[in-house]
Amino acid sequence: MKSKILELNQEVEKYTANTLKDLENFRVLMLGKKGKITELFSDFKTIPNEEKREIGKLINDLKNFAVNKIAHLKEELETSSGKTYDYDLSLPGYPQKFGSRHPISLVKEELFDIFKNLGFSIAEGPEIEDDWHVFSSLNFPDEHPARDMQDTFFVKSEPEILLRTHTSSVQIRVMEKEKPPIRVICPGRVFRNEAISARAHCIFHQVEGLYVDENVSFADLKQTLLFFAQELFGKDVKIRLRPSYFPFTEPSAEMDVSCNLCNGKGCSVCKYTGWLEILGCGMVDPNVLENCNINSKKYSGYAFGMGIERIAMLKYQVKDLRMYFENDLRFLNQFSSVL
Ligand code: PHE
Repeated sequence: MKSKILELNQEVEKYTANTLKDLENFRVLMLGKKGKITELFSDFKTIPNEEKREIGKLINDLKNFAVNKIAHLKEELETSSGKTYDYDLSLPGYPQKFGSRHPISLVKEELFDIFKNLGFSIAEGPEIEDDWHVFSSLNFPDEHPARDMQDTFFVKSEPEILLRTHTSSVQIRVMEKEKPPIRVICPGRVFRNEAISARAHCIFHQVEGLYVDENVSFADLKQTLLFFAQELFGKDVKIRLRPSYFPFTEPSAEMDVSCNLCNGKGCSVCKYTGWLEILGCGMVDPNVLENCNINSKKYSGYAFGMGIERIAMLKYQVKDLRMYFENDLRFLNQFSSVL
């Protein structure tokens, strides 16, 4: 009897279960109505009285041991399929591919950072605009060619509703709402009715800037743009301002930076001039300030605007503007390391 108890003890001790079903079979085998341990209790009746005390204790201990072990195995199988892991088995088994940031977003965020450090905040506005915010308030004469269907996408006539051709419209919206000092940059998509080619697209992205306060001068504009160019292209970059014309600024200029590919010596990218044109700028025309109920005798301001695609083209040496819109992964994946 004693050796049988010992044998069963070892059997219970060694047992491991792979499934709950196996475990249940084992339970029936040991503790079921005709189970091996249950049978010990019937055999118990037949043993001599003087042994009953000792054997009785051994059988009870064996039974408790088996009951506890089976309960323990059951709990393990139910909670973690029999094993405990320190990692999450419910996660997908295949590595997840990360996308890369779009070059336009990368450049846009770089521009944000530069201008944020100069105290500019970001302002956004609608892509579908009225004539006032895109043209009239900005001093565009009635017969200006930009108002022509050939250059602008009109959504509706009378009143004229159109897709904004620049984000200067956002600057107007800010000036209409806020009092100087105003220091904002206005990023966003703009639309122009142009034939799509390597150098032009009907949709592109702009960042325009506006600063209005007392005593803002052209020198402030020049210093801001020099700082911006140095942050973007490195400390050695040179800038050059050429006189230009925009209806909403007076005086107006276009800014070139020294070509970062040939260091100003001349190459095919800068068309052998040593200079790359990157933005338009000028002092806000007093008429524009007055259109937004800002006293032009007290306040002056400067504005500038640039195309993000153009800057990204120079920075990453992208030769064809259409690449930005085609979603070709072979192109986009090249920017995954630029995060
Ligand atoms: N709005 C002009 C454009 O779209 C850019 C510009 C902004 C020029 C501000 C001067 C001052 O071309």
